Amino acid sequence: MKCSWRIVFLLALVSVVIQYAVIRSFTSLNICSVLHPQNHSQLLQMDTVCLAESSLKNTSSSKSHVLILAATRSGSSFFGQLFNHHPDVFYLYEPVNHVQTALKSTPTNRRMILGASRDLLRGLFNCDLHLLEDYITPQPENHITNQLWRRGASKALCTPPVCDSFSPHRVNVTERECIQTCGSLNLTLASQSCQQRGNVVIKTVRVPEVSDVRDLLEDPRLNLKVIQLVRDPRGVLASRMMSFPENYLLMRLWKMKHQKPEGLNLTHVSVCEDFLSSVSTALRQPDWLRGRYMLVRYEDLAKDPHQKIQEIFKFLGMDLNKSVVDWIEENTQGRGSWSPMDVLSTKRNSATNYESWRLKLSFDMVQYLQTLCQVTLHELGYKCVNSSEELKNLSIPLSETRPFYISQ
Ligand SMILES: *[C@@H]1O[C@H](CO)[C@@H](O)[C@H](O)[C@H]1NC(C)=O
Ligand SMILES: *[C@@H]1O[C@H](CO)[C@@H](O)[C@H](O)[C@H]1NC(C)=O
Ligand SMILES: *[C@@H]1O[C@H](CO)[C@@H](O)[C@H](O)[C@H]1NC(C)=O
Ligand SMILES: *[C@@H]1O[C@H](CO)[C@@H](O)[C@H](O)[C@H]1NC(C)=O
Ligand SMILES: *[C@@H]1O[C@H](CO)[C@@H](O)[C@H](O)[C@H]1NC(C)=O
Ligand SMILES: *[C@@H]1O[C@H](CO)[C@@H](O)[C@H](O)[C@H]1NC(C)=O
Ligand SMILES: *[C@@H]1O[C@H](CO)[C@@H](O)[C@H](O)[C@H]1NC(C)=O
Ligand SMILES: *[C@@H]1O[C@H](CO)[C@@H](O)[C@H](O)[C@H]1NC(C)=O
Repeated sequence: MKCSWRIVFLLALVSVVIQYAVIRSFTSLNICSVLHPQNHSQLLQMDTVCLAESSLKNTSSSKSHVLILAATRSGSSFFGQLFNHHPDVFYLYEPVNHVQTALKSTPTNRRMILGASRDLLRGLFNCDLHLLEDYITPQPENHITNQLWRRGASKALCTPPVCDSFSPHRVNVTERECIQTCGSLNLTLASQSCQQRGNVVIKTVRVPEVSDVRDLLEDPRLNLKVIQLVRDPRGVLASRMMSFPENYLLMRLWKMKHQKPEGLNLTHVSVCEDFLSSVSTALRQPDWLRGRYMLVRYEDLAKDPHQKIQEIFKFLGMDLNKSVVDWIEENTQGRGSWSPMDVLSTKRNSATNYESWRLKLSFDMVQYLQTLCQVTLHELGYKCVNSSEELKNLSIPLSETRPFYISQ
C-alpha cells in the first residue's frame, strides 16, 4: 500500500518534470524561430538563447552580407555602384546616416551612436527595413516614407517589386528620376525585395574602424565580410577641399597665397588616424577577421577595375554578373551616366583622375601632409614625394604595387 502510493507520487513527479522540459524546449525553439529574423528589438534581448540554438543547428545564413567601410571622398560611391548593379544584390547607400542625424541633437556620445548603428546594420542585413522607421523624420506611417536618405542610389528601391516604373534591365536610371517617378517608398515592399536577393551590401562612411563592427562579424546569424576601401590621404584631402570648401578655408587660403597660413594646425588629420587604427587592427590578423576582411585601395581599383573587381568578387564568393562588368565598361569609358554625385569617377579622358590631387596641391602642402600622415602612407603603400618635380610628374607612380591584403 505504502509502496504503491510512493510509486504514484514518483510517477506524477516524473511526468511534471517531463512536461516542463518539453514545454521549455518547445517555447525556447519557438521564441527563436518566431523572432528570427522578423523582430529584432526582441532578438537583442534573446541573444543567448538564439545563439545557442543556431550553433546547435549549425546553419549560418545562406545570404552573403557585405559591409563596405570607407571614408568620405575616397571613391566609395563609385565602388558601391559596382554592387548596386548586380541583379542578386540588395544595396543600401549609407543607411547609418539616419542614426547620426536622429541622435545628433541629443547629448549622446560616440559609443551610443556606434551601438545604435550596429544594431541597425544587423537588422538591415536581415532585411528588416522597418528598423529605419525609428530614425526617419517625420516618422513613417503605415511603413511609407519619402525621406529615406539617397533612396535613388539603391537600384533595388527603384525597380520592381518596390517601384514598377523602371525595368530592372535599364542601367541608366538616375537618382533624380527614381525619386521623381517612384513616389513614396513602402518599407514592407523594400524588405521583401531584400529577402528575394541573395546578397545584402551596405556602404557606410560612418563607421570609422573595423573593430566597431566586431560584434556583427562574430554573429553566427550573419555571414558578414568587410571590405575596407582606402585612398591616398593626400588625394582624400584634396578632394574634400574641393567638395567642402567651408571646412577647409585655411587650406584653400594656403593654395591661393602660396604660403601656409598662421593658424593652420592639422595635427590630427582624421582620415590618416582612422585609416591607421583600422588597418593596424586588420594587419594584426585577429581571429575575428580571419577570411572576412579585405583591404582595397581606390588607386588599384581605378587603375584596373576589371582585374580588381574579379579579385573582390572571388573573395566574397559571389558571381561576377555581366551587369556589373557592363556597368564598369560604360562608366570607365566615359559613356555612362555616372558622375553627377561623384566627382571621383574614373573616366577615360582623365585616366589620371585618381591622382589629379598631384596637380591641385602645392609641394609644400603635400610635404606638410606627408609629415602628419607619414605612418599611414607607409602602411598603405603610398610613396612620399621629395620634390615638386616628383609631385607633378604623373609618370612617377606613387602607389607601390603590393599584393592585396586579404586576411585568411
Ligand atoms: C517586436 O518586439 C517588440 C518588443 O517586445 C514589440 O513591442 C513589437 O510589437 C514587436 N514587433 C513585431 C512586428 O512583432
Ligand atoms: C558547421 O558545419 C561546418 C561544415 O558544414 C563545419 O566546418 C563547422 O565546423 C560547423 N560548425 C559548428 C559550430 O559545428
Ligand atoms: C537610358 O537608356 C535607354 C535605353 O536603355 C534610352 O532609351 C534612354 O534614352 C537612356 N536615358 C538616358 C537619360 O540616357
Ligand atoms: C506596402 O506593401 C505591402 C506588401 O506588399 C502591402 O501589404 C501594403 O498594403 C503596402 N502599403 C501601402 C500603404 O500601400
Ligand atoms: C597643434 O595642435 C596640437 C594639439 O591639438 C598641439 O599639441 C600642437 O602643438 C599644435 N601645433 C602647432 C604648430 O601649433
Ligand atoms: C546575372 O544575373 C541574372 C539574374 O539573376 C541571371 O539570370 C544571369 O544568369 C546572371 N549572369 C551571369 C553571367 O552570372
Ligand atoms: C623620396 O625619398 C624616399 C627616401 O629616400 C624614398 O623612399 C622615396 O621612394 C622617394 N620618393 C619617390 C617618389 O621617389
Ligand atoms: C618624369 O619621370 C620619368 C620617369 O622617372 C622621367 O623619365 C621623365 O623625364 C620625367 N619627366 C619630366 C618632365 O621630368
